[in-house]
Amino acid sequence: MKALVLSGGAGTRLRPFSYSMPKQLIPIVNKPVLEYALENIAALGVTEVGLIVGDRADQITEALGDGSRFGVRITAIHQDEPRGLAQCVELARTFLGDEDFVMYLGDNMLPDGIAGIAEEFRAHRPAAQIVVSKVPDPRAFGVAELDADGAVVALEEKPRNPRSDLAMIGVYFFTSAVHRAVRAIEPSARGELEITDAIQWLLDHGHEVKAGEYSGYWKDTGRADDVLECNRHLLATLVPRVDGQVDAASELVGPVVVEAGARVFRSRIVGPVVIGADTLVEDSRIGPDTSVGRDCVLRSTRLTDSIVMAGASITHVPGLHGSLIGRSARIGPSDHAEAHSRLVVGDHTHVEVAA
Ligand code: TTP
Repeated sequence: MKALVLSGGAGTRLRPFSYSMPKQLIPIVNKPVLEYALENIAALGVTEVGLIVGDRADQITEALGDGSRFGVRITAIHQDEPRGLAQCVELARTFLGDEDFVMYLGDNMLPDGIAGIAEEFRAHRPAAQIVVSKVPDPRAFGVAELDADGAVVALEEKPRNPRSDLAMIGVYFFTSAVHRAVRAIEPSARGELEITDAIQWLLDHGHEVKAGEYSGYWKDTGRADDVLECNRHLLATLVPRVDGQVDAASELVGPVVVEAGARVFRSRIVGPVVIGADTLVEDSRIGPDTSVGRDCVLRSTRLTDSIVMAGASITHVPGLHGSLIGRSARIGPSDHAEAHSRLVVGDHTHVEVAA
């Protein structure tokens, strides 16, 4: 079995981050989302990974290298424009050959792994095996209707009146039968080749489509709030470790990781919290539920339930909560000691100030 990981896309819901980085490199507990995907794939014993990349290919290649770190070999496949998940399959036709494959959306987090569902697929090899998960409100998802044996009877994209609460999530298994389906379908109203249409084509042409229910934690990290929620979820199992320096005037409470080269002075850190390598924390209160990347500076700041990406600096900010701070962002007092705030924020940035 091969793998096809989708790491292109527009990422409009994750602006402004997606203006400068592929959303699949957003860090959850200081590790890019995409790395979790590759770990799950490697755990299946899959070694050949085709990686769909858009115009941020260079950053992805830099982050992942050739894949050997994960025990896989990565072949980058370029997509000019995001024209849909099924177009990704089409672009990967040569790479995939006639092998079975797992298609994995590079912004989806399934920290409990996908081994059980892969095993089911390998045992029965239906033309397609989708992965579904119960969601409270299925109207925003592709929804699957199943019969008693777990065979898919119908699929509906974002239905107004869903006929089940089983949403399709970002992992799919296919045999080579999908290639005919992908060639046969037309772009949808939004101009994309939809994987749901390709799977529906398989159903309509008498192919077997099964669904495996995933009961573990799952998150599509498409929006800032999803990223923060997922970060909280993963932090909940943090194993404490101090490789950096914590002075006697500081207090660590609960699970805290202080990476090598990080320095914590006169601060109180309430876990779960990760302080990234070479980061400086001074006179601050950090946590809970916070990940701080490498090479950051936090000074006289109070920060909870947040992600701070590499190289950011935050000084004299007394109450930051639920925040996602981008790489090398700088937040602090005015240089001019004036009584107003001054913002230099990027397009589509979202700022909420305390009233
Ligand atoms: P989505 O999150 O559905 O699409 P998007 O990246 O365009 O996001 P937004 O709606 O915020 O604009 O995509 C799911 C995953 O598949 C994600 O990792 C991006 C990837 N993808 C591609 O690689 N190529 C594509 O053509 C599309 C549509 C998505």
